[in-house]
Amino acid sequence: MRTVEWHQNQVRMIDQKRIPWELALVDLPDFQAVAHAITDMTVRGAPAIGASAAFGMALAARQSNAETVAALLTDLQTAAQVLKDARPTAVNLAWAVDQMMKMAANGHYTHPDGVRDALLNEAQRIADADVAINQRMGANGAVLIQDGDTVLHHCNTGALATVDYGTALGVIRAAWESGKRFHVLLDETRPRLQGSRLSAWELEQLGISYDILPDTAAGYYMQKGEIKLVLVGADRITANGDVANKIGTYQIAVLAKENGIPFYSVAPTSTVDLSLATGAEIPIEERNKDEVLTPYGNPIVPPHFHARNPAFDVTPNRYLAGIVTENGIARPPFSDSLRRAVAGAQV
Ligand code: MRU
Repeated sequence: MRTVEWHQNQVRMIDQKRIPWELALVDLPDFQAVAHAITDMTVRGAPAIGASAAFGMALAARQSNAETVAALLTDLQTAAQVLKDARPTAVNLAWAVDQMMKMAANGHYTHPDGVRDALLNEAQRIADADVAINQRMGANGAVLIQDGDTVLHHCNTGALATVDYGTALGVIRAAWESGKRFHVLLDETRPRLQGSRLSAWELEQLGISYDILPDTAAGYYMQKGEIKLVLVGADRITANGDVANKIGTYQIAVLAKENGIPFYSVAPTSTVDLSLATGAEIPIEERNKDEVLTPYGNPIVPPHFHARNPAFDVTPNRYLAGIVTENGIARPPFSDSLRRAVAGAQV
């Protein structure tokens, strides 16, 4: 099934907090519940939260009792802000909400029901497009993996992080499905453990060879010459090719360069934010310190101990060999190649 979908006038999603122990679904009746599910990471991953927010906007249109298009647009603006505020770093969230607002305000509808129908269609289109785009990225990036390679991966970028198929894990899946045989090392990705809980669960189902690594072990295996390629996703990529991704990505990129290992980000062009010049402008989410001190309710130290919990970091463009998009692999200088990819050209 898809990570998020429209089901009987509600938004149905996989509860990612319960994987790998249980595949549970939650049905969300209103946009406020969707925003909460994004904040508490019931759904997470940049494209998945974008699609969830799009369906959240479709719900908001149905929740509103507005009898004119103008009144409905006012209600939608309120919902748009609540959804955008749910998490700050992944630009796909704001991108999807903006797409929905553009559709609502395009002037084609004289009755609010027309807007309501159009918004549900647009959310479905965004969700369907995500799957198709991921499959294209998979095909574009699969050439990077050779038989016998060991590939390092950080966080979860698979079907769960998207509507289906995945970004960096989508590349891994496409290479495996093309018959290549290789091994994947999965950073466990503290503190939320997306690597061990979610990526390992996905690779189990796909039958792809993997081991979970403590995050601190990546450099060890690079130095031993085992790792041939690093693949990660992205939450926001700026015009110059700086990449915000899950905390820990930057240190892996630096280690990869030190050890002469190519490092690629895999992301749809909806993750590229051309309005920001460099990664220094990206808002970085700081999450509750309890995620560090008491992961998933299991205390590591007494709860009054001090901690910090940045959810993302920024990898400067000089560490990237390329960025795999649905329009090909963008190469340095990214200020040129990304702009062309976003405009729809093959790069
Ligand atoms: O905090 P998360 O789990 O939402 O962070 C997810 C990531 O950092 C992923 O690497 C990124 O969204 C790309 S996934 C397709």
